[in-house]
Amino acid sequence: SGTTRPRLTFIGTGYLGATYAICFAELGYEVLGVDVDTDKIENLRSGVVPFHEPGLDEVLHRNLDSGRLGFTTDFAEAAAFGDVHFICVGTPQGPEGVADLRYVEAAVTSLVPHLDRKVMLVGKSTVPVGTTEWIRDLCRRFAPTDVAVEVAWSPEFLQEGHAVEDVLRPDRVVFGASSDWAIDALYAAHKGVFDLAMNEDREVPVVITDVATAELVKVASNAFLATKISFINAMATMCDAAGADVAQLARAMGYDERIGSKFLRAGVGFGGGCLPKDIRAFAARAEQLGVTDLRFLGEIDAINRRRRTRVVELAAALLGCDVSRPTQPDLSGRRIAVLGAAFKPNTDDVRDSPALAVASLLQGCGADLRVYDPAGLQNAQAAAPHLTYAKSLEDAARDADLVCVLTAWDEFRNVEPAALAGVVRQTRIIDAMNCLDPAEWIGVGWTYRGLGRYGSP
Ligand code: UGA
Repeated sequence: SGTTRPRLTFIGTGYLGATYAICFAELGYEVLGVDVDTDKIENLRSGVVPFHEPGLDEVLHRNLDSGRLGFTTDFAEAAAFGDVHFICVGTPQGPEGVADLRYVEAAVTSLVPHLDRKVMLVGKSTVPVGTTEWIRDLCRRFAPTDVAVEVAWSPEFLQEGHAVEDVLRPDRVVFGASSDWAIDALYAAHKGVFDLAMNEDREVPVVITDVATAELVKVASNAFLATKISFINAMATMCDAAGADVAQLARAMGYDERIGSKFLRAGVGFGGGCLPKDIRAFAARAEQLGVTDLRFLGEIDAINRRRRTRVVELAAALLGCDVSRPTQPDLSGRRIAVLGAAFKPNTDDVRDSPALAVASLLQGCGADLRVYDPAGLQNAQAAAPHLTYAKSLEDAARDADLVCVLTAWDEFRNVEPAALAGVVRQTRIIDAMNCLDPAEWIGVGWTYRGLGRYGSP
């Protein structure tokens, strides 16, 4: 191929690994995506991205055609192919919040026995600090004795729904390494990212650290983001008690550059496959290391979980229901349209979705629900088969006594309040992500409630 670039494998073709494999082929590397899941690999080979990510299909097709991108379930093939192997497998939540590293272990022990030359493994999955050392030990035990394996850490920060941009144009890269050889190899494996930036007259900051720091950057960043969200959600509770408006509060606070306006949207709280599990794993790891200063993360988690019951309380109050049991109001006979199932817009991911959690709570109180989501219906049906789903926003809203917007999809933000009024039975709306303009809804006669706005009951 005439290129001096290293050949890359990405082990684990879930959200992270598939996006990286596809985008690094786009950057000009020869890439092999590796997974034990035959269906996933078959899908990717035939040009199907197994999840909803804007723009990714197109990049996949282009790079399958270019011949730079392949997929396999064969670790011997991966070992023969790759100079740098990225570990991108999932690290789910285990007992007591501790991260479950079984997939990392399986990836390493499946790959390294096949190695026949010096290569580098680079961790990208979100892991507890100390994992690199543990992987090094696995390599010593499982790699052929005459083969050197370097292990480095380079965390990723991609956001679902924005993943292609985040991978091609990261706001920083972190290289956690223990040797000059490893740092050189990391630069070579990311040269495409730096070249693209240079062509576009941008710079990508590189932070070179020891491996423990690199492991911590990821969890510390996610913990900070979670803290920021729970902070503003606590302010929402305060606003409700004081008759203030958290959206205006956040806007005014956000102009202070030290605070910043991002991740300051109060609402139903954070969900997804990362933030909730990551703060629990981080807190658990801190305890293992005898560090008690991270216990506040337990409260961050608790504030977040209370957002979900807050929506149920608000629904009961708005419907004028019997709230003598505040945590379990009687909502029987009330029809509720739940708009949103994905944990945030522009994704079909329903993992730890606040929207689905609230829907389940409402149904548990006897409400007659119809759930609609523009992309997440299939995953929602699999994850929460006990709920009733609608094929369109209008179907969900028909004859509803209450509409709850739980995911901030554009489709919901663009709804015409007057038109929706003609579909529902009662014009009452809960805007649980504070993504609508209250004046528009109130102006045509809706009873509007945000979370932490206008002294909601
Ligand atoms: C998060 C981080 O933002 C990424 O940097 C990180 O790489 C990723 O986890 C990961 O660990 O892989 P993601 O889970 O895709 O990314 O979603 P976010 O955009 O962070 O949103 C997380 C949750 O917070 C969503 O439920 C969202 O609705 C909520 N959120 C976000 C708020 O409630 N308020 C806000 O102001 C922002």
